[in-house]
Amino acid sequence: DIPELPLNNGNRIPQLGLGVFQVDNASDTKNAIKWALAAGYRHIDTAAYYGNEQWVGEAIRESDVKREDIFVTSKLWNSVRGYDETKAAFQETLDKLGFDYLDMYLIHWPAPGYLDSWRAMEDLYKAGKIKNIGVSNFNQKQMADILTNGTVKPVVDQIETHPYFQQDDMHAYLESQGILHEAWSPLGGGNNNALSDPVINELAAAHDVSAAQIILRWHVQREEIVIPKSIHEARVQQNRDIFAFGLDEDEMKAIADLDAGKRVGPDPDDDAWLKKSQTYSSRK
Ligand code: A2P
Repeated sequence: DIPELPLNNGNRIPQLGLGVFQVDNASDTKNAIKWALAAGYRHIDTAAYYGNEQWVGEAIRESDVKREDIFVTSKLWNSVRGYDETKAAFQETLDKLGFDYLDMYLIHWPAPGYLDSWRAMEDLYKAGKIKNIGVSNFNQKQMADILTNGTVKPVVDQIETHPYFQQDDMHAYLESQGILHEAWSPLGGGNNNALSDPVINELAAAHDVSAAQIILRWHVQREEIVIPKSIHEARVQQNRDIFAFGLDEDEMKAIADLDAGKRVGPDPDDDAWLKKSQTYSSRK
């Protein structure tokens, strides 16, 4: 079974979820979710920006798993800031999903104006419309801003994390604040990612599992939440099978040594990128 981790508000989150970033059509989205639910996943991670919330909602509503048994996350895009605007965008997300509540809602990036958005999310949380609120791509300075000015502590920070970009400082900081580290692009995305790394592949051979399973297992043992994306059934299933083997201290250290401080995505401190990202509203 897929373990759950306790959040700082007493709720729980399945440690493994299915990510659907860059899944751009109805059939891929619905198939991936159907396979994931059949394989035992009970956690789906989407975002307004991905443009697939409608299909995520359809897939869940058409499945025989109950809505309340699935943990669904979406995210507020950077172009939406302000109290009323955030509430309206949240309602739009709910409408697209066809839900009357959301399990988790995150501020997608720390683009300017996020404190006003956070206040709206706090009120939606207090009203029970969102079960858990958190952030994504916030660095320590931006998180400290939320902690100082907010009244609800974020439950997670969803940040780029993979063997070539391990985020050890951020991990320690989040742990000290009781905020869970959620990893996006856990396999490293892009080209030259850790899936083809020789160290990872040696470990995979030794454990008779795949490189992806070694990487996901490493995340899980670091107490991270992982949301690997795949639109292939065998991979969706394989990515779930990471709870029946373990990496020992030396093996964890061998992966720790791969850290290259190399991002594939934008830096949360890149103000020019954040500003630019506020001029469009979705990938399409
Ligand atoms: P695909 O959807 O074609 O399977 P990340 O979530 O780290 O960004 O990585 C996602 C990428 O890794 C996607 O391109 C996905 O492609 C691929 N992927 C997902 N699971 C596996 C796996 N078990 N083995 C190899 N590649 C995988």
